[in-house]
Amino acid sequence: MPKPIFVLNGPNLNLLGVREPAIYGSETLADVGRRTQARAQALGLTVDFRQSNHEGELVDWIQEARESASGVILNAGALTHTSVAILDALNAAEKPVIELHLSNVFRREAFRHHSYVSAAAQGVICGFGAKGYELAIEAMANILAGR
Ligand code: DQA
Repeated sequence: MPKPIFVLNGPNLNLLGVREPAIYGSETLADVGRRTQARAQALGLTVDFRQSNHEGELVDWIQEARESASGVILNAGALTHTSVAILDALNAAEKPVIELHLSNVFRREAFRHHSYVSAAAQGVICGFGAKGYELAIEAMANILAGR
């Protein structure tokens, strides 16, 4: 049984659908999870889709990915812009990493233009809303097929 792709979501992403819908869209995180699972299933892959508001829990999950995941797709939310701990965990995991954002962070405030996650990521997908999760699954499928 191939290992699942961990799709990890950080702080405030549990509020998708109600939180600033003009920026993040009207789909809930459960909707996004279903989309992500469906795309993975169509490509013969499995997904472990999770969300936490806690930096340490995300670090624990990234450490778990080292043993239990084929790759990591990470929307770290605001921790993208602040967390060296998440960067260190990603580097330690030694798995392919795709950084993901619903919004185009480069059209937004300057403090969102820097990402610690990017330093560990093979690529970044941002600005395509919930569709970005499907794009990230496709990109991860390509990465894994090339290994
Ligand atoms: C986000 C962008 C971050 O800057 C923000 O803090 C989030 C969500 C996105 O998906 O667009 O919480 O990662």
